[in-house]
Amino acid sequence: MTKPLLNKIALVTGASRGIGRAIALALAADGALVAVHYGASQQAGEETVATIKAAGGEAFLVQADLEKPDGPQHLFARLDAELNARFGTNHLDILVNNAGVAPFGEIGQLDEASFDRLIAINVRAPYFLAQAAAQRLRDGGRVINLSSAVTRVGVGAAVAYSATKGFIDSFTLSLASGLASRAITVNAVAPGVIDTDMAAPMLSGGVDFVLAKQALKRVGKPEDVADVVRFLASPAAGWVTGQVIDTSGGSGIAF
Ligand SMILES: NC(=O)c1ccc[n+]([C@@H]2O[C@H](COP(=O)([O-])OP(=O)(O)OC[C@H]3O[C@@H](n4cnc5c(N)ncnc54)[C@H](OP(=O)(O)O)[C@@H]3O)[C@@H](O)[C@H]2O)c1
Repeated sequence: MTKPLLNKIALVTGASRGIGRAIALALAADGALVAVHYGASQQAGEETVATIKAAGGEAFLVQADLEKPDGPQHLFARLDAELNARFGTNHLDILVNNAGVAPFGEIGQLDEASFDRLIAINVRAPYFLAQAAAQRLRDGGRVINLSSAVTRVGVGAAVAYSATKGFIDSFTLSLASGLASRAITVNAVAPGVIDTDMAAPMLSGGVDFVLAKQALKRVGKPEDVADVVRFLASPAAGWVTGQVIDTSGGSGIAF
């Protein structure tokens, strides 16, 4: 059977660990050449690439610290160099804006430095990565952003984090409108609690409080989110744009 993403080139940010790694594996399994971005976790990034190659897929590593103002620029300089060396062009087909941080805290708890870091990684970087990607995406391309169920369900300890994901939702909608003339779709996925390093502090006290608020009674896995991203990246999703797709197992929908 032909793989749906054969001859497509994807960039997945934050693919060294967690949800990003699962997305990179899924897109590579569907035939895409995947640029596996990492920030600090080089060894984990190398493991993602090795896992993809062991399964018969194609991938390479790209490093950039997305907290730095020139992080997106550095990332694309490295990506361009790699793609130009391989293909003689820097064309791209899929951007997955996945890298993110979640310094949880009530309104009085997050200091200014932590707030600025959050905005740099969760807001500024996705914006300028999408800007750079838009110049390189071929017609019919995809931008897929990571939002969160906390834009829909209030969580006091996620007051600043949820605002960054609110940015993602409205950015997704307007960028979808802006890129539609090139048949580029722009969507977001909104996970609930997913079992990764980010959610570890939440899950350290047990899973009961999460399951109590979720319709489907298990903790989400990175692959649950990756499966929806691989659909949005596929030709089958070409008529879906400007949407935020809930991938939370029904968080906050059940009594
Ligand atoms: N897990 C959840 O429950 C959940 C729920 C809703 C939404 N989300 C969203 O899903 C996305 C992935 O979350 P996750 O749970 O997989 O998180 P994670 O396990 O903590 O992984 C975060 C990823 O982001 C990268 N990253 C963080 N800071 C970076 C920086 N300064 N520069 C470059 N890369 C950086 C990390 O790379 P390095 O380690 O290499 O620096 C890592 O690959 C995030 O956008 C998050 O907000 C997660």
